[in-house]
Amino acid sequence: MSAICLSLTGKTIAEDLAALERYRDKVDLVELRVDWLNPEEQFLVRNFPSLAGLPVILTVRRRSDCGVFDEGEGVRLVIIAKALSYARSDNRANFAYVDLEDDFHVPAIEDTCRIFGTRIIRSHHDPDRIPASIDRIWGDLCQEPGVIPKLAVTPRSSAELASLITWTKTLAPRERIIVGMGDFGYPTRIMAAHLGSTFSYSSPLQAGMPMAAPGHLDPDNFISIYREKEVTRKTAIYALAGGRSITGSRSPALHNGAFRSAGIDAVYIPFPSDSAAGFLAAIEASGARGAAVTVPYKEEIIPLLESASSDVEVIGACNTIKRTATGWEGFNTDINGFERSLLEFLGRQRLDGVRATLVGAGGAAKAVAAVLSRNGASGLILNRSIAKARSLAQKHGFLWGPVDDRSLDLITEYSDLIIQSTSVGMAGGSPGDPLEWYDFNGREAVFDLIYKPERTQFLERAARSGCRVCNGYAMLCYQAAEQFRIWVGGQPPADYDPPQPEAQAPGLKE
Ligand code: ATR
Repeated sequence: MSAICLSLTGKTIAEDLAALERYRDKVDLVELRVDWLNPEEQFLVRNFPSLAGLPVILTVRRRSDCGVFDEGEGVRLVIIAKALSYARSDNRANFAYVDLEDDFHVPAIEDTCRIFGTRIIRSHHDPDRIPASIDRIWGDLCQEPGVIPKLAVTPRSSAELASLITWTKTLAPRERIIVGMGDFGYPTRIMAAHLGSTFSYSSPLQAGMPMAAPGHLDPDNFISIYREKEVTRKTAIYALAGGRSITGSRSPALHNGAFRSAGIDAVYIPFPSDSAAGFLAAIEASGARGAAVTVPYKEEIIPLLESASSDVEVIGACNTIKRTATGWEGFNTDINGFERSLLEFLGRQRLDGVRATLVGAGGAAKAVAAVLSRNGASGLILNRSIAKARSLAQKHGFLWGPVDDRSLDLITEYSDLIIQSTSVGMAGGSPGDPLEWYDFNGREAVFDLIYKPERTQFLERAARSGCRVCNGYAMLCYQAAEQFRIWVGGQPPADYDPPQPEAQAPGLKE
């Protein structure tokens, strides 16, 4: 288990102390980021450890190392020297640690630290890359006795993240801190224990303070969502693959909550990825046992699987994978998740006689089309890329068209149920309303697979026109419960039960 460190990024000492109070019972130590303080307070931090009442790391991070300190090295030296001066016999009144970069060597300061028990964290930051000379850098960081080496580098792809994780596993065990910064490095924040890191750093984001380094989480999320206080080297890893917006997904709260309730030592971690192959490399390096696959890799992942369920083969989209002895097995839990959620929303057993429009023809739409088709609905598929609409529609004997007013007559015919499956309107995705050219008449039942925001512009407009509406949250819950069954077996806990659906769509009752 790694200790949780809160990096304080206040402009004043008072602001830092207020943030510390807010998180005191959650964190094990704090890092005073002097570089974030107003210049006039940067020389006044000597008493901070006494005021904090928790072990404190002293850090004055230069801009070139991902900090915001712009003054010269002379000023930095004076700040550090002053903060460590007049060491007291009661160690709690001194800084417990000082973070000194690998080009900062001032024997007088280092001797003072050794005499008065302030541990040196010897750090190297690279905000742009994983340096080619990583072995030499690491060797240098580890050279002095008693230091804690800290390496914070930036993987620029999923493949680079994979190589960083693999490299970390070759290192001899010792006190250390290894961090991948930025989007691709995000999982390393949560995998601190797996990477053998002594501390995992976080930022007081929910106190409205800036992120101390790219990819930091708030301690609340760390603990309540990612179970950081329970995760050890042995904790099983399950992953979420997707584009860069996945760090906002609600699936980590669902799966990690369920693992906790079921007493399963596992953690579910988002891996923002640049390709399905890169994602697989990164999770294989991490030793993950399974993963959820989302936008935009549900199709790209299929050729990389060793085997796939018949659903995956028939519809051509995979949203769940499980590690076997020899490779990855693919499943599609969107189908059952969507089906259950849709039938509950409509209050029906089947969809015979329902004329439905499906907006989108991507991986998620393939599951929707399969559900419409196997439940007896007739359908129309509208998509920006007409070729994809045609190919999906032909598979199910549906009609197809473009997502614009040329499809107005068709959608008017197929408007008992309208399902939106594109990423348009998703938080962090393309903004807008894909059907802005269509006026709802209020009798349509309208389903949007997006659940964040709770109501997209499209769903909001439908609701304002009097339509019954449903977002994708119940679908997320149902498909996630099935993922639990695939990954760990047994009855999924109640964490996966969605809130009661909104009132049923009256016009569509059987
Ligand atoms: P998912 O797995 O969520 O379905 P996907 O397979 O990448 O993700 O599919 C994304 C869907 O959103 C597609 O239907 C895509 O339309 P194209 O097939 O024309 O690419 C649709 N989509 C994404 N961005 C869009 C935009 N800005 N406008 C309209 N449609 C969009």
